[in-house]
Amino acid sequence: MPEIQVCSIINQKNMAAATGKSKILIIGGTGYIGKFIVKASATAGHPTFALIRETSILSPAKAPIIQAFKSSGVFLVHGDLNDHEGLVKAMKQVDVVISAVGKDLLPEQTKIIAAIKDAGNIKRFFPSEFGNDVDRVHAVDPAKSMFGAKSMIRRAVEAEGIPYTYVCSNFFADRFLKTLGQPGAMAPPRDKVVIFGDGNSKAVFIEETDVGTYTIKGVDDPRTLNKILYIRPTSNMGSLNDIVSLWEKKIGKTLERTYVSEEQLIENIQEAGFPRNVVLSLCHSAFVKGDHTNFEIESSFGVEASELYPDVKNTTVSEYLDQFV
Ligand SMILES: NC(=O)c1ccc[n+]([C@@H]2O[C@H](COP(=O)([O-])OP(=O)(O)OC[C@H]3O[C@@H](n4cnc5c(N)ncnc54)[C@H](OP(=O)(O)O)[C@@H]3O)[C@@H](O)[C@H]2O)c1
Repeated sequence: MPEIQVCSIINQKNMAAATGKSKILIIGGTGYIGKFIVKASATAGHPTFALIRETSILSPAKAPIIQAFKSSGVFLVHGDLNDHEGLVKAMKQVDVVISAVGKDLLPEQTKIIAAIKDAGNIKRFFPSEFGNDVDRVHAVDPAKSMFGAKSMIRRAVEAEGIPYTYVCSNFFADRFLKTLGQPGAMAPPRDKVVIFGDGNSKAVFIEETDVGTYTIKGVDDPRTLNKILYIRPTSNMGSLNDIVSLWEKKIGKTLERTYVSEEQLIENIQEAGFPRNVVLSLCHSAFVKGDHTNFEIESSFGVEASELYPDVKNTTVSEYLDQFV
């Protein structure tokens, strides 16, 4: 069994007292967005704990991620969503729990809620969100069901009276901006581009490192308590038409644009297999329905990250695209 870093409760208490920063447990830290959150937490000086499944400890694919955690002083804690006692034990060592489990496990987060209730010491829970505001969407399936699962977890958290922050980071840049929203592409297009709807609804694209940074900024901030933390800087907003035009300017070339109507897109979603249908339905919600930006953030339910944390120098859409020119 590979070595696991262990720290005593006394040491952890000393660490937290020394830094004045909450101790954070990240569940799903070895996942796509989880690793950015773990890194941001350790970089910000929070005593950081990553729940690691035994299978991942032994997985060569996960070895570089786990090695990076160890190098950053992250404490590795054996655990699994299905091991209630282990979860409770891990939670008793920390103040805040962040979940970054993937879409298949969203409903299973009721197990995290149960462990938080039993642990009794958690000051705040960040469920796995990191996308649209799922209570303000106009999506079709399969995105609709995924958003529904996140919404169900919100209601369960609220019903249990667990203090929370929901992070709505909209589109991850590497997943959606890198391709200018072209499902299946690996890089920005250079000849032809497909535009969903009329191309005028504004979406939001956030670089993954910034998702981690803003999430961790919110942990000890009373302004984000029981609120939705939207990551929605104006420099990261743009319609598909805007973004394609910006890209054309950068590469000095005009792309051939093909517009796909909403009706056609819905047909394409119904005909597509997994995972293309997921990506297309997310594109429908953001690019056609404008679900990232078609509502005002009201102080009764939400706050905007770049307004709260003007000290964070986030990567703008234009800066992000420069690397691919
Ligand atoms: N806005 C966007 O553009 C965007 C894009 C993608 C995802 N998201 C959202 O981001 C969130 C995280 O998604 P993701 O794609 O980053 O997730 P992911 O890569 O699928 O990672 C899932 C994580 O959950 C862990 N896990 C799996 N089974 C577990 C279990 N039984 N017990 C404990 N941990 C377990 C995995 O651990 P192992 O390493 O051991 O497998 C991994 O760390 C989701 O809410 C998703 O909707 C948003």
